[in-house]
Amino acid sequence: MKLNIAVLPGDGIGPEVTAQAVKVLKAIAMDFNHIFTFNHALVGACAIDKTGNALPDETIAICKNADAVLFGAIGRTSFDLDPNAKIRPEQGLLGIRKELGLHTNIRPVIAYDDLLTKSSLKVKQIKDVNILIYRELTGGIYFGDHTLSEDGNTATDTCTYNRFEIERIAHAAFKAAQSRKNKITLVDKANVLESSRLWRRIVQEIAPQYPNVKLRYMYIDNAAMELIINPRQFDVILTENMFGDILSEEASVIVGSIGLLASTSIGDKYAMFEPIHGAYTKAANKGIANPIASILSAAMLLDHFGLDEEASRVREGVDKSLKLHITTPDLNTKYDNISTTKVGDFIEDFINHPDETNLNFTNIHLGQSTII
Ligand code: IPM
Ligand code: MG
Repeated sequence: MKLNIAVLPGDGIGPEVTAQAVKVLKAIAMDFNHIFTFNHALVGACAIDKTGNALPDETIAICKNADAVLFGAIGRTSFDLDPNAKIRPEQGLLGIRKELGLHTNIRPVIAYDDLLTKSSLKVKQIKDVNILIYRELTGGIYFGDHTLSEDGNTATDTCTYNRFEIERIAHAAFKAAQSRKNKITLVDKANVLESSRLWRRIVQEIAPQYPNVKLRYMYIDNAAMELIINPRQFDVILTENMFGDILSEEASVIVGSIGLLASTSIGDKYAMFEPIHGAYTKAANKGIANPIASILSAAMLLDHFGLDEEASRVREGVDKSLKLHITTPDLNTKYDNISTTKVGDFIEDFINHPDETNLNFTNIHLGQSTII
């Protein structure tokens, strides 16, 4: 298969982790005889530095000409500390979601057996957790009007949803539930918000089309608690933009590190793949950033094109790295010298030589050749 992939590494740890995902995709292309081409483009704070714009037109054009977009992370502390900044790195990410119409964001939350003890939660609570969060991505309070009064003392952000936007993601979430445990939880704040009541009404209307799927509702405040006390009760979570942002980051506690969570964002025409973590500026260029979320985003890219065997190979490589503690410091208690690049190299090696009988694991953490 020929794939033209736009690569937007962005800021902070974005470039380091994205480089590992690209490395992995190149290994897959080589092994499975695909032709993947990569076109890099600027987004976020680095784009502001060079062009004055967080999402230059050239970047949009590169993405629209691509079959898929691989996104790193955006953000920089100096902007976080300056609420008066008019141009902000986040405009790059929100802009690309809007420009490409990426309305449906899918964030899997899977508790790996090898990492159960890394979570701050109890092993018995998190074992076998497998949740798929469907987060609406181009509507809600993120994309409503944002206004500040002239005297600077009153601010407004509007949360708007319409039937079409809700139906679109609700159908996708119901279909996903059908291929899983047939359970869907709509998370909202319908006791307070009119927009949430619209979500409930519409999801309730749609539900009979999926008779095997058990639908239930949960308020966001309650869901925030239930996700920690009993995460196994969830199968598919369907929710609006901001609740999905918050719940997915909370869910990373179950998995042990936010550096593990990947995502797919789909529109009618385009698709983008990105880790859910941010730019983590203070970790940039230290080789300590976990590349697995980015590598798993690459696996989701392969899934998207039906390259199942290829995606499985990447996931096996990730599993193997976790099992052997070839992981960055956020997860590692065994070795203290495994860098972002070493994790990428290990997974690349695994892809090239998946037959583990050929691997010599003894010195693998030293970064020595893994192939006998
Ligand atoms: C995410 C991020 C973004 C969001 C930020 C960086 C704008 O937190 O993708 O979860 O809020 O959507
Ligand atoms: Mg977030």
